[in-house]
Amino acid sequence: MARIQAIRGMNDILPEETPVWRFLEDTARQVFTQYGIDEVKFPIVEQTALFVRSIGEVTDIVEKEMYTFNDRNGDSLTLRPEGTAGCVRAAEQQGMLYNQVQRFWYSGPMFRYERPQKGRYRQFHQIGVECFGMSGPDIDAELIVMTARLWDRLGLSGHVELELNSIGSAAARGAYKSALVEYLSRYQSDLDEDSQRRLSSNPLRILDSKDAGTQKVLNEAPVFQDYMDADSRDHFDGLRRYLDDVGIAYKVNPKLVRGLDYYSKTVFEWITSSLGAQGTVCGGGRYDGLVEQLGGRPTPAVGFAMGIERLVLMLTGLSLQNSQWASHPDFYVTAVGEGSAAFAFSLAEKVRSAAGTPTVQLHCGGGSFKSQMKKADKSNARYALLIGESEVAAQSVTLKPLRADQEQKTLPAQEFLELIPQILELT
Ligand code: HAM
Repeated sequence: MARIQAIRGMNDILPEETPVWRFLEDTARQVFTQYGIDEVKFPIVEQTALFVRSIGEVTDIVEKEMYTFNDRNGDSLTLRPEGTAGCVRAAEQQGMLYNQVQRFWYSGPMFRYERPQKGRYRQFHQIGVECFGMSGPDIDAELIVMTARLWDRLGLSGHVELELNSIGSAAARGAYKSALVEYLSRYQSDLDEDSQRRLSSNPLRILDSKDAGTQKVLNEAPVFQDYMDADSRDHFDGLRRYLDDVGIAYKVNPKLVRGLDYYSKTVFEWITSSLGAQGTVCGGGRYDGLVEQLGGRPTPAVGFAMGIERLVLMLTGLSLQNSQWASHPDFYVTAVGEGSAAFAFSLAEKVRSAAGTPTVQLHCGGGSFKSQMKKADKSNARYALLIGESEVAAQSVTLKPLRADQEQKTLPAQEFLELIPQILELT
């Protein structure tokens, strides 16, 4: 029978990669905790209408990338393509938003039916933050400064750049949209096919077009800055002042519009040149209208999400010090000869109970001394504990350093157990 394969664009994350993931997740959790942000978890599946209404009917995500299906009851459900919609739904439903200030983070799998390539997958993972009840630019700035701190802690500063823009209020965007459509309609036949389609559905996304002909037309197009409302302008100036004060470098990119419809005012992305086309490792912005749009009371909100796979690719690709995340057993226990397996088994348990919570890998399944030592070496353990018939008879253990150029030595098991904290400090 044919072997069943994983779904295209959905990856297995193997033991050699999980330590980098853990390093990333642990570091993010520590940084978020420093900023007083609490973790929330919400479902992977929601009603389809939630995503259509929040992300927007004419976005790429809703038009062609969602995993949508009917459940046995005939209800239309969708695997979450992002976290913001579900986070807002959960917080609103639980009565956590009205007249309150909240800071949440979440982490988990998201699903988009995109064409898979390096850094772009159909199941991918995000770590995101969403903040509610704060309308000033201080919280926008704090989130951006916090991500900069995270890059620093991960060793990625200097490999990512911040791009920033303000897309203004909904009214200002409406006026700009009309002017843009009026202008572009005059050059309709010079636009690429996608942009022609977007002219009536989502004209702002045309600004994102990579097509050379369309870009040429855009050179003379009206610019949003001329339409921006005073409130959004003040907000953006305020945000820039905060960032300037703490020395965060950024580039204002007037063409940055993002691919989801719920944004207003601030939008930002952290971009790397080390991942080719999929260079955005983190994106976010303000979405003051979304809570109301989903049936809640007006609530200002701002957040971001980063792609874990892309950050992992960066961390491994840059060959940064993997001692930051690599984990190896302290001891690998081998057993050869009569009675040795039982002795080794109970010794391993005693070692795990010793001070300093040592990590111990017990050789299971027998085999020659040579083959067991090969496994010990492969495990990257710091020491092998050799148990043979003489050790069993004397209730002793032979300690063999595997990473340092030191002599092996045999000592009574009880003495060894007491010495473990000192042994672990040695190397
Ligand atoms: P987004 O820009 O669609 O925003 O996604 C955020 C990040 O997720 C991207 O910058 C990228 O690193 C990663 N990502 C997106 N799609 C894929 C994919 N197919 N494969 C691998 N990584 C991917 C959002 O999702 C918003 N919810 C962010 C936000 C939160 N805005 C406000 N709050």
